[in-house]
Amino acid sequence: MKMHIGADYYPEHWPRERWATDAKLMKEAGFNVTRVAEFAWSKLEPVEGTFDFSWLEDAIKLLGEHGVQVLLCTPTPTQPKWLYDNYPETVAQDEQGHMHHFGNRQNNCFTSPKYRELSRKITTAMAEHFKGNPNVIGWQLDNELSGPFCFCMACEKEFKAFLKEQYKSINDLNAAWGTNFWSHTYASFDELHLPRNKHSSPSIYLEWRRFHSRQIISFATEQAEIIRKINPKHFITHNFMGLYDGLNYFKLGEVLDFISEDYYYNFGASNNDNRFDAYLFGAQRLDFIRGIKHKPFWIMENSAGSLGWETYGRNLRPGEIRRMTIQNMARGAVGQVWFRWRTSRYGTEQYWHGILDHSGIPGRRYNEAKDLTPLMQKIFAKIDGSKIRTEVAILTDFEDRWAFEQQPNAEGFSYTKALEPYYRALYKNGVSVDFVKPGDCLEKYKIVLAPHKYILTKEYADAFTQFVKNGGTLLTTCRTGVKDASNAVHEMPLPGFLREAAGIRVEEYEAIGNYSVNYKGKTYKVNTLADWVIPETAEVLAKYKEPGVDFAAITSHSHGKGKLWYVGSIPEDKLAERIVLDMVAETNVQTYDLPENVELVIHEKDNASFYFLLNHGDEAQEIKMCALNGTDIVTDKAVNGKITIPANDVAVVQI
Ligand code: GAL
Repeated sequence: MKMHIGADYYPEHWPRERWATDAKLMKEAGFNVTRVAEFAWSKLEPVEGTFDFSWLEDAIKLLGEHGVQVLLCTPTPTQPKWLYDNYPETVAQDEQGHMHHFGNRQNNCFTSPKYRELSRKITTAMAEHFKGNPNVIGWQLDNELSGPFCFCMACEKEFKAFLKEQYKSINDLNAAWGTNFWSHTYASFDELHLPRNKHSSPSIYLEWRRFHSRQIISFATEQAEIIRKINPKHFITHNFMGLYDGLNYFKLGEVLDFISEDYYYNFGASNNDNRFDAYLFGAQRLDFIRGIKHKPFWIMENSAGSLGWETYGRNLRPGEIRRMTIQNMARGAVGQVWFRWRTSRYGTEQYWHGILDHSGIPGRRYNEAKDLTPLMQKIFAKIDGSKIRTEVAILTDFEDRWAFEQQPNAEGFSYTKALEPYYRALYKNGVSVDFVKPGDCLEKYKIVLAPHKYILTKEYADAFTQFVKNGGTLLTTCRTGVKDASNAVHEMPLPGFLREAAGIRVEEYEAIGNYSVNYKGKTYKVNTLADWVIPETAEVLAKYKEPGVDFAAITSHSHGKGKLWYVGSIPEDKLAERIVLDMVAETNVQTYDLPENVELVIHEKDNASFYFLLNHGDEAQEIKMCALNGTDIVTDKAVNGKITIPANDVAVVQI
């Protein structure tokens, strides 16, 4: 099988006479797939109930004649004007009840029965029309599902029903939410409402985030069911946005055959200095995306030049399209679609640069993509079906992130930012990570990092404890075990249900700027949050160096056959690296002494290994590893224990 490679295409933005040139150029570049119709609702249904698929069919035919297969999008992220004007109830409303204005995209309410009905109609009509079209292979549902938080009356009605479904009795809801606080007791489900107030109870807030997520996912599910019924052979995917948390991506993933990711490297303005970080965060989001289904994924949109709407950012340097793409493949991508084919002359995205510039004349970026596709196919042919070698996992959960969004606990606390020091430490040392979610099997890993597991039920604490007892090493941190499933605070000292496994208790905690800690004889900084950790049976690894704060900051505790590490604050990068290196040393996880700016990912397939080595720096780097005995697929040269990778270049060594 060939790898799917291409660019997102909007034939409706260009004169028909140009389409053949586009198809020919795609073919010459080695492209074999494109995504179309993403925002084309008004062209497909110019008048309500009157569909026109002829133009799209013509474009698809032409593309097919050039060997370019097509992925269709349901065009529902943009409402046509007739829909907006005739059905104001489909338009999302803000907290004040103001309708979102026409002019942007994604301004619809996902609950609105009318919007649902019109979405089902266009989805059915498209699915029927393209049924059996030999050049259509799959579908993208909507686009980057997120949607504004909608506060309309239809949402309120559904929210009441959703709560009734969850709690069954209003007394149970009152008890779980503790509504005696501020006299917020409800006499019936009818009295419930959307949390329009910033200071709403954390319990109603969390339920509402669950509800918002559920509405979007049920909207997507309706489309998926229609398409599957009519076109059972077509795949269904959706384009995700990395670590975005507007909805529960784990649940959305269940609706899809595979996940796709929109990875925009260096979004917006930035300079060259943070390039390594851009790749590091890219790696993190790709690992997260792979973890949603623990399956290979597609890149559905990827930077093809400098990006932006009103302003644009750094352009991709020569060779960067190649390095970014090989990074995608290294981290599990089996489809590569750049955004977009040609830079738009019109509309908000005039400066979101594509493979071709506004002129439509093939230039440097086109030529780089064209030169790259044979190499991608060559690598893909070897690694198709491979698995990434991982011994470490990071556990994240949307529910914690939603709860933190309303109550960050400390000013400036960001859950994703707090993950970074740990991810960075692993990345720099060549340790690949799987992201996992509650419910995934932990026993496959030697180490699981589960920072800030704020909402911790007994059931899940038991899963952690069992993992540790079975010999696993778990790291958790401050603000773990604080809340129950209704976002009420547990009635026990922290870390709640993990107290025994962690061998500590926390009675007091605070928000901080920076404190110093002494970890194994060296001084480091920690920030933002500080638990005053009291060891019970744990070993103290670090104490605060702060007058009046005579408490432990970091502990570890042997429990059963494994160990639980507890970090009571947020470590600076150097400290996170120290902790991670100590954990991996104890658990025999392989680390690598990589030169600066070099990224490593190892794939395994049958008896072969593939070492992806990416040099993101401006200097050539030599990498020495006795395991590196084989052939570099990129250069076809033999490798014997060491390899020099030129500046900004890549190697894929097959062993
Ligand atoms: C993404 C979206 C694309 C395109 C791009 C640039 O969010 O999925 O369709 O609009 O932004 O604006």
